[in-house]
Amino acid sequence: MRIVFIGPPGAGKGTQAVRLAEYLEVPHLSTGEILREAQAQRTALGDIASQYINDGRLVPDEIIVRVVAQRIEQPDCDQGCLFDGFPRTLPQAESLDALLAAQQQQPLDLVLNLTVDEEELIRRLVQRGRVDDHLAAIQERLAEFRSLTQPVLEYYQSRGLLHNIEGSGTPDAVAGRIRTIVDPILQSRSS
Ligand code: AP5
Ligand code: MG
Repeated sequence: MRIVFIGPPGAGKGTQAVRLAEYLEVPHLSTGEILREAQAQRTALGDIASQYINDGRLVPDEIIVRVVAQRIEQPDCDQGCLFDGFPRTLPQAESLDALLAAQQQQPLDLVLNLTVDEEELIRRLVQRGRVDDHLAAIQERLAEFRSLTQPVLEYYQSRGLLHNIEGSGTPDAVAGRIRTIVDPILQSRSS
């Protein structure tokens, strides 16, 4: 399966994508993690990413699309993968469609949008304390989500792929809600 996780910063995309990837036995592809790894290794990609991430701004589309294109070419993505934090702009969504059509001839199955109220998001992130979890960067990430990622939700809604998942409650409760969407699809494919 090819599933996109969307949601504002702190909504639980990573937490839920890790669990679902294990359940579905497909790789978890987090663009945020790829960029943080590149920063840690001090690669050219990491140096560019640092100009954006720490202030909570999005990395330019062409850079991110190149990163994803290289990753999904790997053979472990042949049977599917979970996209966490990508796409988050309309040009990224259009590029993903083109990549999946060209490289794998497999469209997306589902888009899961995790919703959590803003107070709770800020509380989670401040508590976690990553380098981009200071208040100014969190506000910037939320603003980027509203202006650039919201249109991506409409794009997928119009194709009938979007499912909104209530992201508050325990991680187990959220995972259960996700399974109620994913399991019927799995069952329909195995019968
Ligand atoms: P990215 O790493 O994707 O960060 P984000 O979208 O801001 O979201 P987070 O990873 O902080 O939150 P999450 O939704 O994964 O929640 P998590 O499970 O961690 O991107 C970082 C940066 O990289 C961007 O700002 C941008 O600069 C760049 N970037 C990445 N992708 C890009 C792209 N496509 N285009 C351009 N730039 C890009 O949970 C958060 C916290 O809450 C954790 O501590 C967790 O333990 C806790 N938690 C999770 N679930 C629950 C729950 N149910 N109850 C209580 N606590 C919970
Ligand atoms: Mg994450």
